[in-house]
Amino acid sequence: MTALSAVGAGHDVLISRLLSARQETDAIFHEVRPEAMYDRPIPERHRIVFYIGHLEAFDWNLLGAHGEGGGTHAELDRLFAFGIDPVGGGLPTDSPDDWPRLQIVHDYRDRVREQLDEVITHLGHRDAELLNVAIEHRLMHAETLAYMLHQMPFVSKRSRGARALPQSGAFLPDSIKIPAGEAVLGLRRDSPAFGWDNEFDEHVVHVPEFTIDRYKITNGEFLRFLEAGGYFNDALWMPDDRAWRTVNKISHPAFWIRRGNAWSYRSMFDELPLPPEWPVYVSHAEARAYARWAGQSLPTEAEWQRAAYGDSATTASHHNPLTWDPTPVNCAQASSSPFGVTGMIANGWEWTSSEFAPFPGFRPFPCYPGYSEPFFDGRHYVLKGGSVRTAPCMLRPSFRNWFQPHYQYVYSGFRCVTRA
Ligand code: AVJ
Ligand code: FE
Repeated sequence: MTALSAVGAGHDVLISRLLSARQETDAIFHEVRPEAMYDRPIPERHRIVFYIGHLEAFDWNLLGAHGEGGGTHAELDRLFAFGIDPVGGGLPTDSPDDWPRLQIVHDYRDRVREQLDEVITHLGHRDAELLNVAIEHRLMHAETLAYMLHQMPFVSKRSRGARALPQSGAFLPDSIKIPAGEAVLGLRRDSPAFGWDNEFDEHVVHVPEFTIDRYKITNGEFLRFLEAGGYFNDALWMPDDRAWRTVNKISHPAFWIRRGNAWSYRSMFDELPLPPEWPVYVSHAEARAYARWAGQSLPTEAEWQRAAYGDSATTASHHNPLTWDPTPVNCAQASSSPFGVTGMIANGWEWTSSEFAPFPGFRPFPCYPGYSEPFFDGRHYVLKGGSVRTAPCMLRPSFRNWFQPHYQYVYSGFRCVTRA
């Protein structure tokens, strides 16, 4: 009973975490006014309504489909099964009428939850991994839904922004020399903590000396790059051609809007003058263009890991309340790494120059073989560190995120490195 009771307690904790994850996704859907539920704020992604069904279909297909009672909603289980950004290159072309009415989707959600609540109380302790998959899958969608809501007009959302304008303090760029040494990537196979398939196995990488920006690149810094014409004619990854091409247009961050001859910043619920000390949110292509302009590079995944955690393996997670906006990059409360690199955790993902690829010893999860492997395609880059919308459990050092290089909507920025 001793070993089992610890695991048993873990099981209850996992169930209550799943229930609070549901509250979190319910709250984000509640922000969307009913008339905007069939909108598609990001062209590469599904309409909002899809995700209401997707979260439940995912849980059902993972945890419930082998039991009884699913027969009545098998069609919806299939309709809502897959929901990540299309890799084929083309954009989705469905119309709102292709999706069931909101009432049907809400009934499906309620029915699946009722059945699942029954099933999960009978899951054994060996199913902790399945519950973790359901919880983190849902929490990841809570963050990607936040990106989507962010791109919607304010009138499509219920809340209204009411804020004191952010203070801007003095900001001096700084850089930090990281001596040659080791970085520990990934998680041990026997780790009691949950990790996704792509976090295994743990391994040590030797990292030569490099110098890294102490702070993330800010809106103010990126603006100077834009004003220097920086992104004009820069290379962009063309998914259809599977190649980098020169693009004849000036691209600006998806969070910025031109107002007269100044830039505004679009926050979740209101618009404000561009906050110069907030981290800039950009695509990998934009980050790479900036780094090249500055005569620098993006860090590799191993460099990032070493700058953030030194040479030790740590599994500690960082805890932060979720907010809608980042803090200034040099904010006094920002996390500090063993080398004094500031704000690497939870104030915006950071792009690395590393293609998303398996670690040595990678094995796809049998319960969800399509989570990582289809994206080991040379067309996705690793992001690290987490944003202000990343759930605390995924702020662990081994967590890896990935997106395509032209994707501008993520709460992700970057910092630059130089090598000897
Ligand atoms: C790991 C955030 C890139 O949203 O595309 C959700 C997570 N996978 N459902 C994504 C995911 C399947 C994935 N990211
Ligand atoms: Fe999903």
